[in-house]
Amino acid sequence: MDKYFVIGNPIEHSLSPKLHNYWIKSNSLDAFYDKKKIDINELKDLIFQIKQKNIKGINVTVPYKRSVIPFLDKLSPEAEKTQSVNTIFLKDELIVGHNTDVIGFVNAVEKINFSLNNKKIYILGAGGVVPSIVFALNKMNVLEINLANRTKQKALDLKKSFGNLKIVDWGLIPDFDVIINATSVGLNKEDLIDLDFSKIGKNRLFYDVIYNPSETNFLKTGKQSGNLTENGKLMFLHQASEAFKLWHGISPKINSETIRLLND
Ligand code: ATR
Repeated sequence: MDKYFVIGNPIEHSLSPKLHNYWIKSNSLDAFYDKKKIDINELKDLIFQIKQKNIKGINVTVPYKRSVIPFLDKLSPEAEKTQSVNTIFLKDELIVGHNTDVIGFVNAVEKINFSLNNKKIYILGAGGVVPSIVFALNKMNVLEINLANRTKQKALDLKKSFGNLKIVDWGLIPDFDVIINATSVGLNKEDLIDLDFSKIGKNRLFYDVIYNPSETNFLKTGKQSGNLTENGKLMFLHQASEAFKLWHGISPKINSETIRLLND
């Protein structure tokens, strides 16, 4: 039986095992996907097990998407540019790191009835997932990307990799068509982002990377003022689907049943 893991810390709440095992079963594959909470000093040995063929594939989540890189032989262009790896596998005897968050975001946004072509984007946050989103947006012909982070230096550091970013001060709200919450504010249901959205018009897209809770206060505010809203569930599903495809060579189904699986 082929073994797959998602590694991180904390990891208890990861929904990846549920999703991957569902797809494994529905495709009658002889495999099992489990979660593993690990310390940073265990990364090297665990990843080496890919080379020894004890483990077939690894998904990486917070906080190790960057720290796994020294233990890999090769990076995909997406992983290299974002310095973020969420999927590991063996190819031609080399341990390869890929970033399926990028295509996950692209595919998720394409499912929303809102074209990003020539649109003004405003990103809140500069944490782990942001390089993947910026990389994806840069492939989607957006007009401009403004970004604000509470700690401005982190935003300025991102600009070193993505020169087209326009960094704005936290608290300012430039004109936008799409606003993306990529901060961790909202993970707790009562969390509120300390920004004043009262002067924002309608018909924009409010996108939250968070999918649990399914409607953050950020999305509630957007909806109440007549905007389209979307949470991060589709991005999560699509990054998982791309990892599954890389490992098993099968494109798994994303349908109402898989979406429901994440609600239970
Ligand atoms: P990391 O920063 O370790 O990559 P993350 O969960 O990926 O962790 O990112 C958390 C993001 O949420 C950061 O952009 C963080 O801003 P700081 O860089 O200033 O810490 C943002 N964040 C967390 N709490 C916040 C708050 N109360 N208000 C605004 N931004 C917040």
